[in-house]
Amino acid sequence: MINQLTLVWPMPLSVAMPRLRIEPVGDATLEDWRHVHNVIIPSDPLSTDEVRERVGRNHLEVAYLGDVLVGCTTVRPPAGDAATATVIVRVLPAHRRNGYGEELYETEVAHARTSGARAIETVVLASNADGLRFALSHEFVEVSRYLPPEDEDPFITLRLQ
Ligand SMILES: CC(C)(COP(=O)(O)OP(=O)(O)OC[C@H]1O[C@@H](n2cnc3c(N)ncnc32)[C@H](O)[C@@H]1OP(=O)(O)O)[C@@H](O)C(=O)NCCC(=O)NCCS
Repeated sequence: MINQLTLVWPMPLSVAMPRLRIEPVGDATLEDWRHVHNVIIPSDPLSTDEVRERVGRNHLEVAYLGDVLVGCTTVRPPAGDAATATVIVRVLPAHRRNGYGEELYETEVAHARTSGARAIETVVLASNADGLRFALSHEFVEVSRYLPPEDEDPFITLRLQ
């Protein structure tokens, strides 16, 4: 018995235990995904139909702590010669700086790699200081900016090095 215990305890500190319940978007969770997206990207609010259309072409997930809505994610599947997938994680402002962004990021990058991605990009609104800091501290570098017509807040595309 003692020998069995010594095999599993103490746990290495580097092993991160999942804390979030992360679910693919379906009828029951679509409005939660839309809520998080629209709170974080107010300049590009999506309708229910627009989210439904995205479910058809992207991997969308929504994250809960127990029953509390915490965040949502988008993974655009690998495309192009470099098999580049786009991974975007979003955590509601009230739940930031608890490690949830990291947990979502690791989950969704793993999903993208399993889907065949050989390169990873992300997209951050220039005004999103938390998002930019997160991307830059995870070894992404800016590759392009897109300013929608009549908008003042560009979308920045960053690529994982
Ligand atoms: C980017 C984003 C998802 C990060 O979410 P988050 O849950 O705050 O992320 P984490 O908690 O994992 O990490 C954020 C910071 O909190 C720190 N942190 C993590 N756990 C912590 C804890 N328990 N106590 C204190 N700080 C903590 C991290 O070290 C990190 O610090 P840093 O910014 O100095 O590097 C969030 O800011 C967001 O939704 N931004 C807008 C959307 C966006 O731009 N997404 C694109 C990025 S892919």
